[in-house]
Amino acid sequence: MNAGPIPVIAIDGPSASGKGTVAKAVARALGFHLLDSGALYRLVALAALNAELPWNDEPGLARLALGLQAGFRGDDIMLENQIVTENIRSEACSEGASIVGAVGGVRRALLRRQRAFRQIPGLVADGRDMGTVVFPDADLKIYLTASVEVRAERRYKQLKQKGIAATLTALLKDLRERDERDMLRSAAPLKPSPEAHILDTTALTAEAAADRVLAVYRGLRNDAI
Ligand code: C5P
Repeated sequence: MNAGPIPVIAIDGPSASGKGTVAKAVARALGFHLLDSGALYRLVALAALNAELPWNDEPGLARLALGLQAGFRGDDIMLENQIVTENIRSEACSEGASIVGAVGGVRRALLRRQRAFRQIPGLVADGRDMGTVVFPDADLKIYLTASVEVRAERRYKQLKQKGIAATLTALLKDLRERDERDMLRSAAPLKPSPEAHILDTTALTAEAAADRVLAVYRGLRNDAI
């Protein structure tokens, strides 16, 4: 176990693997802060859409990321003092986030901002490169995954609950495309760090997955005492 003063649990994995729900539950159980790093990439995408910045203007996107006026207040996510919690979940922002996430300058611009979330008593960080790039010294690294079919089904149910129309076929295609873009990009590609615990949630509920993460973390703490 890392002897650093502020513990970090890094939870990485592909879209719709249940990371968000698991990270939230783990943070709540431990009383830790939570970093939803995907929200930062989604905010950059929304800011770019608002500014009508073309996706291939990499220096422009990096500048936007550097000056991003983002805010997290409770469950609310803000861009320039406007609540955009729901807006950033749109398909346009999901796709945009995956595009801006492939830009090295954007990733560099967001690095310090993400590390600033590491505050007492600890942090649960959810994303794609939390264990590999942002918090390489994390106390615990989890790589959460699930079959693409189960992930598409989960997304389908979420959208249906919100009254948003979608088809499983389209969601499957979209997830496959995003997985490919996240895994094949040269800047911080999605991959488990060698020391990550791989947790396959295909047949697990988010609650059961969170319990496993907590059990591993508490086991590490006890070993360290
Ligand atoms: O986790 P979420 O689905 O909200 O992330 C949206 C997109 O942001 C991902 O598809 C990914 O391309 C990008 N992202 C990233 N690095 C992170 C978190 C998200 O590149 N740490």
